[in-house]
Amino acid sequence: MKILLLGSGGREDALAWRLSQCGSCEELHVAPGNPGMARWADEVHSLDLGDIDGTVRLAHGLGADLVVVGPEAPLVAGLADKLEAAGIPCFGPGKGAAMLEGSKSFTKRICDDAGIPTAAYEETASVEAGLAAIERFGVPVVVKADGLAAGKGVTVAMTREEAEEAVREAGDAPLVIEEFLEGEEASLFALCDGESVQFLASAQDHKRVGEGDTGPNTGGMGAYSPAPVLTDDLADRAMREIVAPTAKWLSEQGMAYRGVLYAGLMLTKDGPKLIEYNVRFGDPECQAIMPRIAGDLAKALHAVASGGLEKAEPLALEEAHVMTVVVASKGYPAGSTKGGAINGIEAAEEDGAIVFQAGTARADDGQLVAAGGRVLNVTGAGESLEDARDAAYAALEKIDFADGFHRSDIGWRELGRDG
Ligand code: AMP
Ligand code: GLY
Repeated sequence: MKILLLGSGGREDALAWRLSQCGSCEELHVAPGNPGMARWADEVHSLDLGDIDGTVRLAHGLGADLVVVGPEAPLVAGLADKLEAAGIPCFGPGKGAAMLEGSKSFTKRICDDAGIPTAAYEETASVEAGLAAIERFGVPVVVKADGLAAGKGVTVAMTREEAEEAVREAGDAPLVIEEFLEGEEASLFALCDGESVQFLASAQDHKRVGEGDTGPNTGGMGAYSPAPVLTDDLADRAMREIVAPTAKWLSEQGMAYRGVLYAGLMLTKDGPKLIEYNVRFGDPECQAIMPRIAGDLAKALHAVASGGLEKAEPLALEEAHVMTVVVASKGYPAGSTKGGAINGIEAAEEDGAIVFQAGTARADDGQLVAAGGRVLNVTGAGESLEDARDAAYAALEKIDFADGFHRSDIGWRELGRDG
């Protein structure tokens, strides 16, 4: 089959790498891609992902049998609906279901309707109502902007002052104010074809920029899969109590979900509770999941996009542990430097590690350079998380990128548990 993969980050490089190895993938096209993805793709197409009609024209012109959408923005903008109208199977939900990521209040209403465990909450749309809600909940409390905020619209307030400031700052914008959940966070990724759901993998990421999970939030500085805290029993329970009822609700409302459902969970003493949904693979979680996939990913994604998941063979996973460590440009996430030369990727990959690329570019002379933000995802695998960590950091040592920095403690919480 001919596949068009959309996106240009580390997540998409990992997807491209894995898809290109599948027996069922005859041609892999990527757009707009990056220099890493060019290593695996048959062709890289320039494309403005904000141009939905242009994207559909590209898929149509290529005769694509499947479009795989990496980031959420084109989904929220309705790309999947337009592809469906053009008769092209799309891995990624339609605009209606993509509201799971686009609107926190939408997700909360599904939880209410379908009895899905989540934090108690209240929706407000004025400073007055927001302050009253904080009064009722007490602290700690969580204040969330209702809308796509790229992870930046959330304040976990430990004091009343912080909570009130977040409410005042939002003015009369719609907020979701919710109970603070205590526990450990883990991410669950499930495939969903509109009818059936299938557990894919668990992962954990490190969102803060600094060692020990300190400093400002980022898109993620590293991740590993599986997440041992999400045991098989807890994963089953989350699939049963959270993911399956969500898919059922959406399908009953005529918003069948086709794609990967990324559930951010809090593992509380009362069991897993939903923190949030994303309608895509996590980045960098995807980079840690792809090397674990043993089966034909392209076939599975096609089954998801065309509603045949139940009949398809479950996607086989390797027993391995995988860790990915992000190398970002200095200054990230506030700003970041561009243009710094990157060398040593081949050497880093000699012993089986793999370096997925995100913010990279080719200079006129062909030199690989940083394009800012998160730049590389150095990914190692092993029989244990410790082995995976050692493989990733050993590979990282061989990379020469003076303008980059990384966290040296990815996995610390998990690795610290058994000494
Ligand atoms: P969200 O964008 O909803 O995932 O929130 C961002 C982060 O805020 C999450 O990854 C959690 O670390 C934290 N968070 C969100 N909601 C809660 C909650 N109800 N209780 C505790 N922490 C939360
Ligand atoms: N790593 C977090 C995310 O992809 O949203």
